[in-house]
Amino acid sequence: MRLRMRTAAGAVALLALAGCSTGVAQHQAAVTLPKSTPSPTPMPTRTPTPTPTPTPTPDCNRLKCIAITFDDGPSTDTPRLLNMLTSYGAHSTFFVLGMNAKVHTDILRRQIRDGDEVGDHTYDHASLTGLSTARIHQEINSTAKIIESAIGKPPLLMRPPYGAYDGRVAKAVGLPIILWKDDTLDWLHRDSRRVSQVVLKLASRNAVILLHDIQPTSVNAMKTILPELKQRGFTLVTVSQLYAGRPLRAGKVYGMN
Ligand code: NI
Repeated sequence: MRLRMRTAAGAVALLALAGCSTGVAQHQAAVTLPKSTPSPTPMPTRTPTPTPTPTPTPDCNRLKCIAITFDDGPSTDTPRLLNMLTSYGAHSTFFVLGMNAKVHTDILRRQIRDGDEVGDHTYDHASLTGLSTARIHQEINSTAKIIESAIGKPPLLMRPPYGAYDGRVAKAVGLPIILWKDDTLDWLHRDSRRVSQVVLKLASRNAVILLHDIQPTSVNAMKTILPELKQRGFTLVTVSQLYAGRPLRAGKVYGMN
């Protein structure tokens, strides 16, 4: 288990789980209105689920794949990251916080449209090893509900904040746990040049790399990282694409090599 301290704003946010029941469907009785009735109140309609771009799944047995993942978002910097990924035909997995996903559902929907993947990173960046099992369920499930109400499907993967987990947490989260290869420490140094250097040094076939799309410096670093990885022959894929054909099991840990 790896536990690390950090000072990012998200890490100290207080629990705000009371306001999480956003997925409750509103029901309204259908009423037959006489033709003369002026402007009836429109029925609330659920926004349709975005259709993902039908791109063929890359074959990572054949291709030199790498999964660059982004945690703690979405943020106002995420859309320009998505623009960069799109222009390179690159895909990523975003482990989002429920508290940020709730206010950026449009970004989640775009991620799915672009062919990216959205995973669960708890509601407010809680260190799960310090929580009761009931609170762990709350952290994971409230975020899963927010994701599902935004994109029409629940997350299939999770990443514990700080990489902090133990046997009890692993059982409680009920999803495959995706960690990462070493640490870029992008959130600590906040230096684009350093971030790109570290990522390019860590880059290897089938590696899972951790960055944060709440850090503008990390998003900026992708301007250097994307062309260089392309030059080296890498295909940037989501975590699920990286493990395609190898079923990921709930409570098991992946991504550290
Ligand atoms: Ni995080």
